[in-house]
Amino acid sequence: MSDLKRGLSEAVAAAFAAAGLPAELGRVTPSDRPDLADFQCNGALAAAKTARRDPREIAAGVTATLAADPRLSAVEIAGLGFINMRVSDTALSERANEIAADPRLGASVVEARRRILVDYAGPNVAKPMHVGHLRSSIIGEAIKRIYRFRGDLVVGDAHFGDWGYQMGLIIGAVMDEDPFIKALVEQLNGRNQPVSAEEEKTAFAALHDRVSLEDLDRLYPLAAAKGKADIEYRERARRMTAELQAKAPGYHLLWRHFARVTKVALERDFHALGVDFDLWKGESDVDDLIAPMVKELDAKGLLVDDQGARIIRVARQGDKRDLPPLLVVSSEGSAMYGTTDLATVLDRERSFDPDQVLYVVDQRQADH
Ligand code: ARG
Repeated sequence: MSDLKRGLSEAVAAAFAAAGLPAELGRVTPSDRPDLADFQCNGALAAAKTARRDPREIAAGVTATLAADPRLSAVEIAGLGFINMRVSDTALSERANEIAADPRLGASVVEARRRILVDYAGPNVAKPMHVGHLRSSIIGEAIKRIYRFRGDLVVGDAHFGDWGYQMGLIIGAVMDEDPFIKALVEQLNGRNQPVSAEEEKTAFAALHDRVSLEDLDRLYPLAAAKGKADIEYRERARRMTAELQAKAPGYHLLWRHFARVTKVALERDFHALGVDFDLWKGESDVDDLIAPMVKELDAKGLLVDDQGARIIRVARQGDKRDLPPLLVVSSEGSAMYGTTDLATVLDRERSFDPDQVLYVVDQRQADH
């Protein structure tokens, strides 16, 4: 099945050829100025350069031929010699009917199947979702399905946010509220022999009865607000995050409980929205890759010490705006949001070797 762009390209190519110019110049693209036109062709400018002629004059010859095309309601020359085209209502409704009648809805199958990874939704442990997550989930799911429908090999990954500062916050908040949990976690943290499977089971059973998703939902906003207002509270959360990442047994066990409770509820909610992931990898899953990655970045001379933290300066001359540095290791030694993101690139390369990774993220994360 052809499409409008291709059909028009053929017509414009023929018009160029009729004027004694190379047909390739007739390439039509969607207009840069949708307020002025639907499609455009810049071929007259290229032709003028080689033929040393006036581009507007070349464009005039081409538009004269195109004027009779029933698919176009207007053909105009703009600026130095761009050819602007508006599609007629008849052509649009014919095209809409064609698409509606086509079992593939006008979507062609790709010639060479690509390996595509779509990173979308990005929900977090404990932190409630906001509209940015909903938007990413729906757009990401749609992108995943469209690529798949076109024949690509597509994997959708939820990229579960389970390794950041919010973990330290919620660990502290739960321990503050429940002395039993505080004692349990501290006892496990203080141990020098590993926690047995039997002990784990007992501990998880106790946590199951004591901390629900409702508790996390209730405590997280309070803890987040307190972390903003109270430096000491914030510092403690950051320390707890670093200790969690260093696998302190008590924090680690509590964290696994939080992750499990959150994931069960999220999967149910996403499924109800028609959003299902092939992979539910967390930021924590790349933890083992971080130390060697930091070493490699260091060996390459990319890391800069900055107030006790280690950063990468990513700003380049000629950037359109100020790009903040990427924080790789915090002053507590923790992996940050960008650290796990970077390690995830390595992980995906090794495990899936994608041709493309699509990140469906909030505008505020566009720099990533
Ligand atoms: N968990 C993040 C958030 O809630 C979104 C993650 C987006 N994906 C990524 N690879 N950074 O803001």
